[in-house]
Amino acid sequence: MSHAYRAVGWNPQKKRYDLAILLGVLTYLGAFVGVGAALEPGATAESLMIRGAGTLALVLLHVILCIGPLCRFDTRFLPLLYNRRHLGVVMFVLALAHGGLATLLYHTASAVNPIVSVLAGGGGWSSLADFPFQPLGFAALLILALMATTSHDFWLAQLTPPVWKALHMLVYAAYALVIAHVALGVLAAEASPVLAGMLGVGVLTVGALHLAAATRESRTDARLQRATRPAGDAPGAPGLDATGSVTAGMVDVAALAELVEGEGHAALVAGERVAVFLHDGKVSAVSGVCQHQNGPLAEGRVIDGCITCPWHGYQYEPETGCSPPPFDERIPTFRVAVRGGRVFVASVPLPAGTRVEPARMPA
Ligand code: HEM
Ligand code: FES
Repeated sequence: MSHAYRAVGWNPQKKRYDLAILLGVLTYLGAFVGVGAALEPGATAESLMIRGAGTLALVLLHVILCIGPLCRFDTRFLPLLYNRRHLGVVMFVLALAHGGLATLLYHTASAVNPIVSVLAGGGGWSSLADFPFQPLGFAALLILALMATTSHDFWLAQLTPPVWKALHMLVYAAYALVIAHVALGVLAAEASPVLAGMLGVGVLTVGALHLAAATRESRTDARLQRATRPAGDAPGAPGLDATGSVTAGMVDVAALAELVEGEGHAALVAGERVAVFLHDGKVSAVSGVCQHQNGPLAEGRVIDGCITCPWHGYQYEPETGCSPPPFDERIPTFRVAVRGGRVFVASVPLPAGTRVEPARMPA
């Protein structure tokens, strides 16, 4: 967003990742076709390509789904998150190649429309005919297509972040469809237990990581909840009104000594995550949820005078919650007060982008 931080752009770091992904994809496909041809001399190059692209799309889908929870545990995974959308588009291209080639190869021989043939469940697959697994793959592909085409920030801005986020949560529906596609179709006919074992490990890994991350998040919320209390209970509670009396609706979120210059401090106010920042001797509070993809702003830092999201670098001015020009993202702000060595935040947020005078450190 600033000159130093360019969100989701084609910077050198992203180009290196894209190159690594491309090399990885080519190596995998080459190895799959080569090893497959050696092990199964009867298999055609097309059928090996179909299986290679399908399995790699499945592996990448697992990687994509694991990145979010992994970042909750270790910030060293953040570079993967930074590049996740490119990985998603690559996964879609592979799934499209797999589905498109399978449709061409297995559904164009008869007079029936190929899409109708796919939706009919895979005509011509005598041993798998009982399992309508191909429509499941088709439905997954439609969802992945919707996600890949709306993955650019242009669509994020057009659709608004909550709608975009809801749309992209459909990845879990696509995942369930793909798992059913593979489990019901291919595994039913597969003699070797290798693919079934790998699929089981993949599903368990994705499930366990999500469960562990959700547990950790709710523990964090509970801890933050314990760390806040109504302002009226606190010694030296703030009076933000002109008379200096205690204003109802402020909560005590932290000791001033806990704040570190330029770093965020997480708080839970009325059930919502809030990010409190100490910068240049002034304390500000904004929503703890990034407008971009709900990144944790309290884990960010102040860079070039702006709160910078740790996930993709979106930036917001501490006093206004607005992104610096030419960007126009806005997040809610909160009134803040510092009294008796404690930091107080209003329990009701102000509309996104509202300027709030930061609380000054006592002299
Ligand atoms: C129009 C959509 C789709 C069609 C027509 C389709 C068709 C097929 C067919 C015919 C097979 C059996 C291939 C074989 O054993 O030789 C297959 C297997 C498979 N498909 Fe799909 N598929 C579609 C979508 C997807 C999607 C979206 C994914 C994953 C993102 C996927 C992942 C797989 C995997 C992992 C296999 C197992 C490959 C193997 O046996 O090694 N498919 N699919
Ligand atoms: S910049 Fe992407 S979530 Fe904040």
